[in-house]
Amino acid sequence: MLKTHYCGELNLKLKGKEVVLAGWVHSRRDHGKVIFIDLRDSTGLAQLVITPTPRFERGSECRHPQDRRSSAGREAVPTVSSGRSVTSKIKEGQKLNPEFVIQVKGKVNERPAGMKNKKIATGEIEVEAIELKILSKSKTPPFELDQDTIKVNEEKRLEYRYLDLRTERMAKNLKTRFELIQFIRNYLQDRGFTEIQTPILSKSTPEGARDYLVPSRLHQGKFFALPQSPQQYKQLLMVAGVERYFQIAPCFRDEDARADRSPGEFYQIDIEMSFVEREDVLKLTEEMFSQMIKKIFPKKKINQIPWPRITHQETIKKYKSDKPDLRQDKKDKDELAFAWIIDFPLFTKQTKEDFFHGAGNKLAPSHHMFTAPREEDVKYLETDPSKVKSYQYDLVLNGFEVGGGSIRIHDPKIQEKIFNLIGFDKKDKKMFSHILRAFEYGVPPHGGIAPGLDRLLMILENEPNIREVIAFPKTGDGRDPMMDTPSEVKEEQLKELGIKIDLKKK
Ligand code: AMO
Repeated sequence: MLKTHYCGELNLKLKGKEVVLAGWVHSRRDHGKVIFIDLRDSTGLAQLVITPTPRFERGSECRHPQDRRSSAGREAVPTVSSGRSVTSKIKEGQKLNPEFVIQVKGKVNERPAGMKNKKIATGEIEVEAIELKILSKSKTPPFELDQDTIKVNEEKRLEYRYLDLRTERMAKNLKTRFELIQFIRNYLQDRGFTEIQTPILSKSTPEGARDYLVPSRLHQGKFFALPQSPQQYKQLLMVAGVERYFQIAPCFRDEDARADRSPGEFYQIDIEMSFVEREDVLKLTEEMFSQMIKKIFPKKKINQIPWPRITHQETIKKYKSDKPDLRQDKKDKDELAFAWIIDFPLFTKQTKEDFFHGAGNKLAPSHHMFTAPREEDVKYLETDPSKVKSYQYDLVLNGFEVGGGSIRIHDPKIQEKIFNLIGFDKKDKKMFSHILRAFEYGVPPHGGIAPGLDRLLMILENEPNIREVIAFPKTGDGRDPMMDTPSEVKEEQLKELGIKIDLKKK
Protein backbone atom coordinates (compact mmCIF):
# COMPACT_ATOMS: atom_id res chain seq x y z
CA MET A 1 0.00 0.00 0.00
CA LEU A 2 1.13 3.53 -0.71
CA LYS A 3 -0.34 4.70 2.60
CA THR A 4 -0.43 3.59 6.24
CA HIS A 5 -3.66 5.36 7.11
CA TYR A 6 -6.71 6.91 5.47
CA CYS A 7 -7.28 10.61 6.08
CA GLY A 8 -10.68 10.17 7.70
CA GLU A 9 -9.45 7.83 10.43
CA LEU A 10 -6.78 10.10 11.91
CA ASN A 11 -7.42 11.14 15.51
CA LEU A 12 -5.69 12.12 18.72
CA LYS A 13 -4.88 8.49 19.53
CA LEU A 14 -2.27 8.71 16.78
CA LYS A 15 -0.68 11.84 18.29
CA GLY A 16 3.09 11.78 17.84
CA LYS A 17 2.95 8.90 15.33
CA GLU A 18 4.35 8.95 11.82
CA VAL A 19 1.87 8.16 9.09
CA VAL A 20 1.89 8.02 5.32
CA LEU A 21 -1.18 9.39 3.58
CA ALA A 22 -2.10 9.52 -0.11
CA GLY A 23 -4.92 11.37 -1.77
CA TRP A 24 -5.99 14.52 -3.56
CA VAL A 25 -5.15 18.13 -2.73
CA HIS A 26 -8.57 19.42 -1.75
CA SER A 27 -7.45 22.96 -1.03
CA ARG A 28 -4.28 24.91 -0.28
CA ARG A 29 -3.86 27.90 2.01
CA ASP A 30 -0.49 29.57 1.65
CA HIS A 31 0.70 31.69 4.58
CA GLY A 32 4.26 32.26 3.32
CA LYS A 33 6.31 30.32 5.89
CA VAL A 34 3.64 27.72 6.34
CA ILE A 35 1.27 26.07 3.87
CA PHE A 36 -1.89 24.26 4.91
CA ILE A 37 -3.21 21.56 2.60
CA ASP A 38 -6.51 19.80 3.05
CA LEU A 39 -5.76 16.31 1.81
CA ARG A 40 -8.77 14.27 0.68
CA ASP A 41 -9.24 10.56 0.19
CA SER A 42 -12.30 8.31 0.05
CA THR A 43 -12.78 8.56 3.81
CA GLY A 44 -12.53 12.31 4.35
CA LEU A 45 -10.14 15.20 4.87
CA ALA A 46 -6.95 15.68 6.88
CA GLN A 47 -5.01 18.91 7.29
CA LEU A 48 -1.35 18.85 6.30
CA VAL A 49 1.06 21.48 7.51
CA ILE A 50 4.11 22.16 5.40
CA THR A 51 7.01 23.92 7.09
CA PRO A 52 10.69 23.71 6.11
CA THR A 53 11.75 20.89 8.55
CA PRO A 54 12.37 17.31 7.35
CA ARG A 55 13.12 13.96 9.13
CA PHE A 56 12.38 10.24 8.52
CA GLU A 57 12.44 6.28 8.25
CA ARG A 58 10.60 2.65 8.30
CA GLY A 59 8.04 0.49 6.20
CA SER A 60 4.61 -1.50 5.87
CA GLU A 61 0.84 -2.26 5.44
CA CYS A 62 -2.23 -0.02 5.36
CA ARG A 63 -5.78 -1.09 6.04
CA HIS A 64 -8.92 0.76 5.16
CA PRO A 65 -10.60 2.00 8.37
CA GLN A 66 -13.51 -0.36 7.76
CA ASP A 67 -11.29 -3.37 7.04
CA ARG A 68 -12.37 -5.89 9.67
CA ARG A 69 -9.22 -8.01 9.63
CA SER A 70 -6.86 -7.80 12.61
CA SER A 71 -4.98 -4.53 12.61
CA ALA A 72 -1.58 -6.00 13.58
CA GLY A 73 1.31 -4.51 11.64
CA ARG A 74 -0.13 -1.05 11.34
CA GLU A 75 2.59 0.56 13.40
CA ALA A 76 5.21 0.37 10.67
CA VAL A 77 5.47 3.27 8.25
CA PRO A 78 6.46 2.93 4.57
CA THR A 79 9.08 5.19 3.15
CA VAL A 80 7.91 7.75 0.64
CA SER A 81 10.19 6.64 -2.16
CA SER A 82 12.48 9.30 -3.44
CA GLY A 83 12.20 10.78 -6.88
CA ARG A 84 12.45 14.11 -8.54
CA SER A 85 9.40 15.54 -6.84
CA VAL A 86 10.14 14.29 -3.30
CA THR A 87 10.56 17.36 -1.14
CA SER A 88 9.76 19.02 2.12
CA LYS A 89 10.44 22.52 0.93
CA ILE A 90 7.85 25.24 1.08
CA LYS A 91 8.68 26.05 -2.53
CA GLU A 92 7.51 22.60 -3.62
CA GLY A 93 4.42 22.87 -1.44
CA GLN A 94 3.49 25.92 -3.43
CA LYS A 95 3.37 23.79 -6.58
CA LEU A 96 0.51 21.75 -5.18
CA ASN A 97 -2.60 22.75 -7.00
CA PRO A 98 -6.08 21.45 -6.24
CA GLU A 99 -6.65 17.83 -7.33
CA PHE A 100 -2.96 16.94 -7.56
CA VAL A 101 -2.52 13.40 -6.24
CA ILE A 102 0.17 13.28 -3.57
CA GLN A 103 1.76 10.95 -1.05
CA VAL A 104 2.86 12.46 2.23
CA LYS A 105 4.78 11.18 5.17
CA GLY A 106 4.15 13.18 8.28
CA LYS A 107 3.71 13.31 12.03
CA VAL A 108 0.29 13.52 13.64
CA ASN A 109 0.09 16.53 15.96
CA GLU A 110 -2.69 17.93 18.08
CA ARG A 111 -3.85 21.24 16.60
CA PRO A 112 -3.06 24.26 18.74
CA ALA A 113 -5.94 25.48 20.89
CA GLY A 114 -8.18 27.75 18.85
CA MET A 115 -7.20 26.02 15.59
CA LYS A 116 -9.43 22.97 16.12
CA ASN A 117 -12.23 22.49 13.63
CA LYS A 118 -15.34 20.78 14.98
CA LYS A 119 -16.91 20.68 11.51
CA ILE A 120 -14.63 17.93 10.22
CA ALA A 121 -14.03 14.51 11.80
CA THR A 122 -10.25 14.98 11.88
CA GLY A 123 -10.47 18.58 13.10
CA GLU A 124 -8.49 17.97 16.30
CA ILE A 125 -5.30 16.91 14.57
CA GLU A 126 -3.04 17.99 11.76
CA VAL A 127 -0.21 16.22 9.98
CA GLU A 128 3.16 17.90 9.90
CA ALA A 129 4.62 17.00 6.50
CA ILE A 130 8.06 15.37 6.55
CA GLU A 131 8.28 14.12 2.97
CA LEU A 132 6.01 14.73 0.07
CA LYS A 133 5.73 13.28 -3.41
CA ILE A 134 3.50 14.27 -6.31
CA LEU A 135 2.02 11.07 -7.76
CA SER A 136 0.06 12.80 -10.48
CA LYS A 137 -0.78 16.32 -11.54
CA SER A 138 -4.17 17.73 -12.38
CA LYS A 139 -5.47 20.34 -14.75
CA THR A 140 -7.73 22.93 -13.19
CA PRO A 141 -11.10 21.12 -12.94
CA PRO A 142 -14.00 22.60 -14.96
CA PHE A 143 -15.90 23.28 -11.72
CA GLU A 144 -14.89 23.57 -8.07
CA LEU A 145 -14.76 20.26 -6.23
CA ASP A 146 -14.58 21.59 -2.67
CA GLN A 147 -18.12 22.87 -3.09
CA ASP A 148 -21.53 21.32 -3.70
CA THR A 149 -22.05 21.00 -7.47
CA ILE A 150 -25.85 20.99 -7.43
CA LYS A 151 -26.00 24.39 -9.15
CA VAL A 152 -23.32 23.61 -11.75
CA ASN A 153 -24.49 23.03 -15.33
CA GLU A 154 -25.60 19.39 -15.42
CA GLU A 155 -24.22 18.65 -18.87
CA LYS A 156 -20.76 19.67 -17.56
CA ARG A 157 -21.18 17.61 -14.41
CA LEU A 158 -22.12 14.54 -16.42
CA GLU A 159 -19.33 15.11 -18.93
CA TYR A 160 -16.85 15.14 -16.03
CA ARG A 161 -18.78 12.78 -13.77
CA TYR A 162 -15.57 11.27 -12.36
CA LEU A 163 -14.79 14.73 -10.97
CA ASP A 164 -18.35 15.41 -9.84
CA LEU A 165 -18.26 12.15 -7.87
CA ARG A 166 -15.23 13.44 -5.93
CA THR A 167 -17.41 16.04 -4.20
CA GLU A 168 -18.59 15.34 -0.69
CA ARG A 169 -22.32 15.06 -1.39
CA MET A 170 -21.93 12.83 -4.42
CA ALA A 171 -19.38 10.56 -2.72
CA LYS A 172 -21.74 10.25 0.25
CA ASN A 173 -24.66 9.39 -2.03
CA LEU A 174 -22.67 6.54 -3.57
CA LYS A 175 -21.73 5.15 -0.18
CA THR A 176 -25.22 5.41 1.21
CA ARG A 177 -26.59 3.62 -1.84
CA PHE A 178 -24.22 0.74 -1.14
CA GLU A 179 -25.14 0.68 2.57
CA LEU A 180 -28.83 0.52 1.70
CA ILE A 181 -28.29 -2.32 -0.79
CA GLN A 182 -26.13 -4.20 1.69
CA PHE A 183 -28.76 -3.82 4.43
CA ILE A 184 -31.45 -5.19 2.13
CA ARG A 185 -29.21 -8.11 1.05
CA ASN A 186 -28.48 -9.10 4.64
CA TYR A 187 -32.09 -8.61 5.73
CA LEU A 188 -33.47 -10.80 2.99
CA GLN A 189 -30.75 -13.43 3.27
CA ASP A 190 -31.52 -13.76 7.00
CA ARG A 191 -35.12 -14.47 6.04
CA GLY A 192 -34.40 -17.27 3.60
CA PHE A 193 -34.27 -15.31 0.33
CA THR A 194 -31.84 -16.19 -2.46
CA GLU A 195 -30.48 -13.54 -4.80
CA ILE A 196 -30.60 -14.74 -8.40
CA GLN A 197 -29.42 -12.92 -11.53
CA THR A 198 -31.82 -13.10 -14.43
CA PRO A 199 -30.92 -12.47 -18.09
CA ILE A 200 -30.14 -9.04 -19.48
CA LEU A 201 -30.55 -10.31 -23.03
CA SER A 202 -34.21 -11.14 -22.92
CA LYS A 203 -37.32 -11.13 -25.07
CA SER A 204 -39.35 -8.27 -26.43
CA THR A 205 -42.89 -8.57 -25.13
CA PRO A 206 -45.67 -6.02 -25.18
CA GLU A 207 -45.49 -4.55 -21.68
CA GLY A 208 -45.76 -1.06 -20.27
CA ALA A 209 -42.92 0.83 -21.94
CA ARG A 210 -40.87 0.69 -25.12
CA ASP A 211 -38.14 -1.97 -25.19
CA TYR A 212 -34.44 -1.48 -25.84
CA LEU A 213 -33.57 -3.90 -28.63
CA VAL A 214 -30.29 -5.73 -29.17
CA PRO A 215 -29.73 -7.30 -32.60
CA SER A 216 -28.54 -10.89 -32.72
CA ARG A 217 -25.49 -11.64 -34.90
CA LEU A 218 -26.00 -15.38 -34.93
CA HIS A 219 -29.69 -15.08 -35.75
CA GLN A 220 -29.81 -12.16 -38.14
CA GLY A 221 -33.07 -10.29 -38.26
CA LYS A 222 -33.89 -11.35 -34.68
CA PHE A 223 -33.55 -9.25 -31.58
CA PHE A 224 -33.13 -9.57 -27.86
CA ALA A 225 -34.77 -6.99 -25.64
CA LEU A 226 -33.33 -5.64 -22.40
CA PRO A 227 -35.74 -6.47 -19.56
CA GLN A 228 -38.14 -3.75 -18.39
CA SER A 229 -38.16 -5.71 -15.14
CA PRO A 230 -37.44 -9.35 -14.29
CA GLN A 231 -41.20 -9.92 -13.87
CA GLN A 232 -41.56 -13.05 -15.97
CA TYR A 233 -38.28 -14.58 -14.81
CA LYS A 234 -39.13 -14.11 -11.16
CA GLN A 235 -42.47 -15.80 -11.66
CA LEU A 236 -40.74 -18.64 -13.52
CA LEU A 237 -38.34 -18.93 -10.56
CA MET A 238 -41.39 -19.53 -8.37
CA VAL A 239 -42.44 -22.33 -10.73
CA ALA A 240 -38.84 -23.55 -10.36
CA GLY A 241 -39.39 -23.96 -6.61
CA VAL A 242 -37.19 -21.08 -5.38
CA GLU A 243 -39.97 -19.82 -3.03
CA ARG A 244 -38.10 -16.68 -1.90
CA TYR A 245 -36.22 -14.70 -4.56
CA PHE A 246 -34.75 -11.25 -4.65
CA GLN A 247 -32.41 -9.31 -6.89
CA ILE A 248 -30.97 -5.83 -7.04
CA ALA A 249 -32.21 -5.83 -10.59
CA PRO A 250 -31.27 -3.57 -13.50
CA CYS A 251 -34.33 -2.57 -15.53
CA PHE A 252 -34.41 -0.88 -18.92
CA ARG A 253 -37.25 1.20 -20.30
CA ASP A 254 -37.11 3.43 -23.32
CA GLU A 255 -39.23 6.25 -21.94
CA ASP A 256 -38.84 9.97 -21.44
CA ALA A 257 -37.01 11.17 -18.35
CA ARG A 258 -38.58 13.04 -15.44
CA ALA A 259 -37.13 14.18 -12.14
CA ASP A 260 -38.11 10.84 -10.57
CA ARG A 261 -37.67 8.73 -13.70
CA SER A 262 -34.32 7.65 -14.97
CA PRO A 263 -34.13 7.62 -18.76
CA GLY A 264 -32.98 4.22 -19.94
CA GLU A 265 -32.00 2.25 -16.91
CA PHE A 266 -32.74 2.05 -13.22
CA TYR A 267 -32.65 -0.50 -10.42
CA GLN A 268 -35.36 -2.31 -8.52
CA ILE A 269 -35.22 -4.20 -5.25
CA ASP A 270 -37.05 -7.05 -6.92
CA ILE A 271 -38.78 -9.57 -4.64
CA GLU A 272 -41.00 -12.58 -5.26
CA MET A 273 -42.39 -15.12 -2.77
CA SER A 274 -44.39 -18.32 -3.07
CA PHE A 275 -47.31 -19.43 -0.89
CA VAL A 276 -48.00 -15.89 0.30
CA GLU A 277 -50.92 -13.54 0.54
CA ARG A 278 -50.91 -9.77 0.10
CA GLU A 279 -50.44 -9.30 3.83
CA ASP A 280 -47.13 -11.21 3.83
CA VAL A 281 -45.60 -9.01 1.11
CA LEU A 282 -46.77 -5.76 2.71
CA LYS A 283 -45.52 -6.81 6.14
CA LEU A 284 -42.10 -7.87 4.87
CA THR A 285 -41.62 -4.62 2.93
CA GLU A 286 -42.82 -2.45 5.80
CA GLU A 287 -40.56 -4.08 8.38
CA MET A 288 -37.56 -4.17 6.07
CA PHE A 289 -37.77 -0.49 5.15
CA SER A 290 -38.59 0.66 8.69
CA GLN A 291 -35.49 -1.08 10.04
CA MET A 292 -33.35 0.08 7.13
CA ILE A 293 -34.34 3.71 7.72
CA LYS A 294 -33.69 3.44 11.46
CA LYS A 295 -30.18 2.17 10.77
CA ILE A 296 -29.09 4.13 7.69
CA PHE A 297 -31.16 7.31 7.94
CA PRO A 298 -31.50 7.74 11.74
CA LYS A 299 -32.57 11.40 11.43
CA LYS A 300 -35.66 10.47 9.40
CA LYS A 301 -39.00 10.11 11.15
CA ILE A 302 -41.72 7.86 9.73
CA ASN A 303 -44.90 9.74 10.63
CA GLN A 304 -47.34 6.81 10.83
CA ILE A 305 -46.67 3.19 11.84
CA PRO A 306 -48.18 0.87 10.70
CA TRP A 307 -48.25 2.56 7.31
CA PRO A 308 -51.76 3.62 6.34
CA ARG A 309 -53.58 1.58 3.72
CA ILE A 310 -55.81 3.51 1.37
CA THR A 311 -58.00 2.03 -1.32
CA HIS A 312 -57.49 3.30 -4.83
CA GLN A 313 -61.02 4.65 -4.89
CA GLU A 314 -60.51 6.54 -1.63
CA THR A 315 -57.20 8.13 -2.65
CA ILE A 316 -58.60 9.35 -5.95
CA LYS A 317 -61.67 10.78 -4.21
CA LYS A 318 -59.85 12.35 -1.27
CA TYR A 319 -56.49 13.37 -2.73
CA LYS A 320 -57.20 13.33 -6.50
CA SER A 321 -54.04 11.25 -6.85
CA ASP A 322 -52.93 7.64 -6.66
CA LYS A 323 -49.72 8.78 -4.97
CA PRO A 324 -50.81 11.20 -2.27
CA ASP A 325 -48.30 13.16 -0.23
CA LEU A 326 -49.34 12.48 3.36
CA ARG A 327 -46.67 14.49 5.14
CA GLN A 328 -47.98 16.71 7.92
CA ASP A 329 -45.36 19.35 7.21
CA LYS A 330 -44.09 19.38 3.64
CA LYS A 331 -41.23 21.69 4.60
CA ASP A 332 -39.81 19.16 7.07
CA LYS A 333 -37.04 17.37 5.19
CA ASP A 334 -36.88 14.51 7.66
CA GLU A 335 -40.54 13.48 7.62
CA LEU A 336 -41.40 10.29 5.78
CA ALA A 337 -45.02 9.51 4.95
CA PHE A 338 -45.38 5.99 3.60
CA ALA A 339 -48.74 4.63 2.47
CA TRP A 340 -50.03 1.54 0.74
CA ILE A 341 -52.52 2.04 -2.05
CA ILE A 342 -54.60 -1.13 -2.43
CA ASP A 343 -57.65 -2.50 -4.27
CA PHE A 344 -56.79 -1.06 -7.65
CA PRO A 345 -59.12 -1.80 -10.53
CA LEU A 346 -57.59 -4.65 -12.56
CA PHE A 347 -57.96 -2.67 -15.78
CA THR A 348 -57.60 0.93 -16.83
CA LYS A 349 -58.52 2.55 -20.09
CA GLN A 350 -55.81 2.24 -22.67
CA THR A 351 -54.13 5.55 -23.45
CA LYS A 352 -51.78 6.56 -26.24
CA GLU A 353 -49.01 6.68 -23.62
CA ASP A 354 -49.33 2.92 -23.10
CA PHE A 355 -46.90 1.39 -25.50
CA PHE A 356 -49.18 -1.54 -25.75
CA HIS A 357 -49.55 -3.95 -28.59
CA GLY A 358 -53.07 -5.04 -27.78
CA ALA A 359 -54.01 -2.03 -29.85
CA GLY A 360 -57.60 -1.55 -30.80
CA ASN A 361 -58.72 -2.72 -27.39
CA LYS A 362 -59.89 -0.26 -24.79
CA LEU A 363 -58.58 -2.06 -21.71
CA ALA A 364 -55.03 -2.12 -20.40
CA PRO A 365 -53.81 -3.78 -17.21
CA SER A 366 -53.66 -1.25 -14.40
CA HIS A 367 -50.40 -2.81 -13.11
CA HIS A 368 -49.32 -5.58 -15.45
CA MET A 369 -51.01 -8.53 -17.07
CA PHE A 370 -49.87 -11.04 -14.44
CA THR A 371 -51.73 -9.37 -11.57
CA ALA A 372 -54.47 -11.52 -10.05
CA PRO A 373 -58.08 -10.34 -9.87
CA ARG A 374 -59.59 -10.45 -6.37
CA GLU A 375 -61.13 -13.83 -5.78
CA GLU A 376 -64.60 -12.38 -5.19
CA ASP A 377 -64.39 -10.39 -8.45
CA VAL A 378 -63.34 -13.17 -10.83
CA LYS A 379 -66.99 -13.59 -11.82
CA TYR A 380 -67.07 -10.08 -13.32
CA LEU A 381 -64.34 -10.97 -15.82
CA GLU A 382 -67.12 -12.41 -17.99
CA THR A 383 -69.75 -9.76 -17.42
CA ASP A 384 -68.17 -6.40 -16.54
CA PRO A 385 -64.33 -6.37 -16.42
CA SER A 386 -64.25 -2.71 -15.38
CA LYS A 387 -65.76 -3.79 -12.03
CA VAL A 388 -62.91 -6.17 -11.21
CA LYS A 389 -60.54 -5.13 -8.44
CA SER A 390 -57.10 -6.68 -8.15
CA TYR A 391 -54.47 -7.71 -5.64
CA GLN A 392 -52.20 -4.90 -6.80
CA TYR A 393 -50.51 -2.70 -4.20
CA ASP A 394 -48.44 0.43 -4.71
CA LEU A 395 -46.04 1.81 -2.15
CA VAL A 396 -46.16 5.58 -1.92
CA LEU A 397 -43.67 7.83 -0.11
CA ASN A 398 -44.01 11.62 0.21
CA GLY A 399 -46.05 11.80 -2.99
CA PHE A 400 -43.92 9.44 -5.09
CA GLU A 401 -44.65 5.89 -6.19
CA VAL A 402 -41.64 4.07 -4.78
CA GLY A 403 -42.81 0.51 -5.38
CA GLY A 404 -45.42 -1.66 -6.99
CA GLY A 405 -46.38 -5.27 -6.81
CA SER A 406 -49.18 -7.77 -6.70
CA ILE A 407 -50.34 -11.28 -6.00
CA ARG A 408 -50.10 -13.00 -9.37
CA ILE A 409 -52.37 -15.12 -11.45
CA HIS A 410 -51.39 -18.77 -11.14
CA ASP A 411 -54.28 -20.26 -13.07
CA PRO A 412 -53.39 -20.51 -16.79
CA LYS A 413 -57.08 -20.19 -17.72
CA ILE A 414 -57.43 -16.86 -15.94
CA GLN A 415 -54.13 -15.71 -17.46
CA GLU A 416 -55.42 -16.47 -20.93
CA LYS A 417 -58.69 -14.70 -20.16
CA ILE A 418 -56.75 -11.55 -19.20
CA PHE A 419 -54.74 -11.77 -22.44
CA ASN A 420 -58.02 -11.87 -24.37
CA LEU A 421 -59.50 -8.95 -22.46
CA ILE A 422 -56.51 -6.70 -23.19
CA GLY A 423 -56.86 -7.46 -26.86
CA PHE A 424 -54.06 -9.94 -27.46
CA ASP A 425 -54.33 -11.82 -30.74
CA LYS A 426 -52.81 -15.27 -31.35
CA LYS A 427 -49.42 -13.79 -32.20
CA ASP A 428 -49.33 -11.64 -29.06
CA LYS A 429 -50.27 -14.64 -26.93
CA LYS A 430 -47.56 -16.75 -28.50
CA MET A 431 -45.02 -14.33 -27.05
CA PHE A 432 -46.12 -15.45 -23.58
CA SER A 433 -46.57 -19.14 -24.34
CA HIS A 434 -43.61 -19.96 -22.06
CA ILE A 435 -45.56 -18.61 -19.06
CA LEU A 436 -48.74 -20.46 -19.96
CA ARG A 437 -46.77 -23.67 -20.52
CA ALA A 438 -44.86 -23.32 -17.23
CA PHE A 439 -48.12 -22.80 -15.38
CA GLU A 440 -49.23 -26.27 -16.51
CA TYR A 441 -46.54 -27.90 -14.36
CA GLY A 442 -47.57 -27.11 -10.81
CA VAL A 443 -47.30 -23.43 -10.04
CA PRO A 444 -47.37 -22.22 -6.42
CA PRO A 445 -49.57 -19.25 -5.58
CA HIS A 446 -47.12 -16.35 -5.51
CA GLY A 447 -46.71 -12.61 -5.32
CA GLY A 448 -44.09 -9.94 -4.94
CA ILE A 449 -43.07 -6.35 -5.13
CA ALA A 450 -40.39 -4.17 -6.72
CA PRO A 451 -39.47 -0.95 -4.93
CA GLY A 452 -37.49 1.39 -7.17
CA LEU A 453 -34.04 1.69 -5.60
CA ASP A 454 -33.01 4.98 -7.22
CA ARG A 455 -36.31 6.73 -6.57
CA LEU A 456 -36.38 5.62 -2.95
CA LEU A 457 -32.82 6.87 -2.44
CA MET A 458 -33.60 10.18 -4.11
CA ILE A 459 -36.26 10.83 -1.46
CA LEU A 460 -34.26 9.52 1.48
CA GLU A 461 -31.27 11.66 0.45
CA ASN A 462 -33.48 14.75 -0.10
CA GLU A 463 -32.22 15.03 -3.66
CA PRO A 464 -34.20 17.00 -6.24
CA ASN A 465 -33.72 14.42 -8.99
CA ILE A 466 -32.90 10.77 -9.46
CA ARG A 467 -29.64 11.43 -11.32
CA GLU A 468 -28.04 12.64 -8.06
CA VAL A 469 -28.09 9.09 -6.65
CA ILE A 470 -26.85 7.29 -9.78
CA ALA A 471 -23.10 7.05 -10.44
CA PHE A 472 -23.25 7.49 -14.22
CA PRO A 473 -26.76 8.56 -15.26
CA LYS A 474 -27.94 9.56 -18.70
CA THR A 475 -29.03 13.12 -19.46
CA GLY A 476 -32.71 13.99 -19.67
CA ASP A 477 -32.59 13.28 -23.40
CA GLY A 478 -30.93 9.89 -22.97
CA ARG A 479 -27.24 10.56 -23.61
CA ASP A 480 -24.04 10.08 -21.66
CA PRO A 481 -21.87 13.15 -22.39
CA MET A 482 -18.86 11.52 -20.71
CA MET A 483 -18.69 8.37 -22.87
CA ASP A 484 -20.51 10.13 -25.69
CA THR A 485 -23.21 7.49 -26.01
CA PRO A 486 -25.23 6.50 -27.91
CA SER A 487 -22.67 6.48 -30.69
CA GLU A 488 -22.44 5.38 -34.28
CA VAL A 489 -20.88 1.99 -35.00
CA LYS A 490 -18.64 0.76 -37.80
CA GLU A 491 -20.15 -0.27 -41.10
CA GLU A 492 -18.68 -3.80 -40.64
CA GLN A 493 -20.44 -4.19 -37.31
CA LEU A 494 -23.76 -3.39 -38.94
CA LYS A 495 -23.01 -5.73 -41.81
CA GLU A 496 -22.36 -8.61 -39.41
CA LEU A 497 -25.75 -7.98 -37.89
CA GLY A 498 -27.48 -7.68 -41.24
CA ILE A 499 -28.57 -4.14 -40.42
CA LYS A 500 -28.89 -1.17 -42.80
CA ILE A 501 -29.43 2.30 -41.41
CA ASP A 502 -32.22 4.19 -43.11
CA LEU A 503 -32.30 7.59 -41.45
CA LYS A 504 -35.13 9.90 -42.42
CA LYS A 505 -33.79 13.27 -43.50
CA LYS A 506 -34.94 15.93 -41.08
P1 AMO B 1 -43.38 -1.07 -11.85
O1 AMO B 1 -43.35 -0.91 -13.32
O2 AMO B 1 -44.51 -0.43 -11.11
O3 AMO B 1 -43.48 -2.62 -11.47
O4 AMO B 1 -42.00 -0.60 -11.25
C1 AMO B 1 -41.73 -0.72 -9.87
C2 AMO B 1 -41.04 0.51 -9.33
O5 AMO B 1 -39.87 0.80 -10.09
C3 AMO B 1 -39.64 2.21 -10.06
N1 AMO B 1 -39.53 2.71 -11.46
C4 AMO B 1 -38.58 3.58 -11.87
N2 AMO B 1 -37.59 4.19 -11.21
C5 AMO B 1 -36.79 5.01 -11.92
N3 AMO B 1 -36.91 5.25 -13.22
C6 AMO B 1 -37.88 4.66 -13.95
N4 AMO B 1 -37.96 4.90 -15.26
C7 AMO B 1 -38.78 3.77 -13.27
N5 AMO B 1 -39.84 3.03 -13.65
C8 AMO B 1 -40.27 2.39 -12.55
C9 AMO B 1 -40.81 2.86 -9.38
C10 AMO B 1 -41.87 1.78 -9.45
O6 AMO B 1 -42.78 1.86 -8.39
N6 AMO B 1 -42.38 -6.00 -12.23
C11 AMO B 1 -43.20 -5.01 -11.58
C12 AMO B 1 -43.14 -5.13 -10.07
C13 AMO B 1 -43.89 -6.32 -9.51
O7 AMO B 1 -45.05 -6.50 -9.89
O8 AMO B 1 -43.33 -7.03 -8.67
C14 AMO B 1 -42.72 -3.61 -11.98
O9 AMO B 1 -41.72 -3.43 -12.64
O10 AMO B 1 -40.46 3.11 -8.03
